[in-house]
Amino acid sequence: MDVQRILVVGSGAMGRQIGMAAAVAGFTTAVRDVSADAAAAAEADMRRWLDGRVAKGRLAEADAADAWERLTFTTDLAAAAAEADLVIEAATERLDVKRSIFAELDALTPARAILATNSSTLASSTVADATGRPEKVCNMHFFNPALVMKAVEIVRNPHTSDETVETVAAVARAMGKSPVLLAKEIPGFVANRLMGAVRDEALALYAAGVASVEDIDTAAKDALGYPMGPFELMDLVGLDVTYLIRRAAYEQTGDEKDLPHPLITAKYEAGEFGRKTGKGWYTYE
Ligand code: 3HC
Repeated sequence: MDVQRILVVGSGAMGRQIGMAAAVAGFTTAVRDVSADAAAAAEADMRRWLDGRVAKGRLAEADAADAWERLTFTTDLAAAAAEADLVIEAATERLDVKRSIFAELDALTPARAILATNSSTLASSTVADATGRPEKVCNMHFFNPALVMKAVEIVRNPHTSDETVETVAAVARAMGKSPVLLAKEIPGFVANRLMGAVRDEALALYAAGVASVEDIDTAAKDALGYPMGPFELMDLVGLDVTYLIRRAAYEQTGDEKDLPHPLITAKYEAGEFGRKTGKGWYTYE
């Protein structure tokens, strides 16, 4: 299937960057938010990013102008959905919200459109039956920051067609991304499970008083070549997101080893979510 128009639902940290990456790659893209203020803030942030690329010599001025021309921020879901070939939903990680968005998208988009969710916690089978086209529903999971990280996990549900997976993978490649295909749904998918294993060991080492947060991060970076230590990464992703991912995994599996680590729960309850609140494992200006 030929994808030309993409709709991203949700203009938060992920949605805005997914939309920008799609526009830079040549897709006509709309980023939609329920809140006009949120959409305007996302638009201003992406304008700054684009200007920064030009100033740094990473993008030609004409290419930046073309990308900006292709990108719209809006609150009008019906208009943005009317001609979409692919929708990437990046809204709140709440099942009731996502199910009503998918039902609405099913009514508003052309029958050909693929409806993907960027969710890392909700497998697409939990929303597919809110639509009349479960074969065109899958997870298309980007990583933070989405303009930089190359992997995109494409997770099929039991109904997802091969054509859907191939189309989404082709879009990801066109965006300069590396698709990671999952043949079945599993909590955490692949990358977050790998990240979780490293994070849990880092938390266990810290809780046992073996080394400081800073020294564990240094080991990850300077012994293993990770771009960030596990504590820095929790602050980037958000300790709220980290907590909620583990709660969601526990609710799906009932396995106590999937519960958030007590140190994560403490940060969550203290409202210390990381960079976004100015304090997490580290303190930010
Ligand atoms: N948005 C857009 N671009 C950004 C950015 C951001 N937030 N942060 C950095 N960049 C860009 C910079 O502009 C720069 O681009 P350039 O080299 O073309 O000029 C490039 O990334 C490198 O940035 P810096 O030199 O400032 O900093 P670093 O080299 O330390 O890179 C990083 C920053 C890319 C964030 C790197 O530290 C990294 O890769 N960290 C690991 C991130 C990671 O693991 N993400 C996955 C999280 S898990 C997840 O998202 C799943 C979800 O379900 C929870």
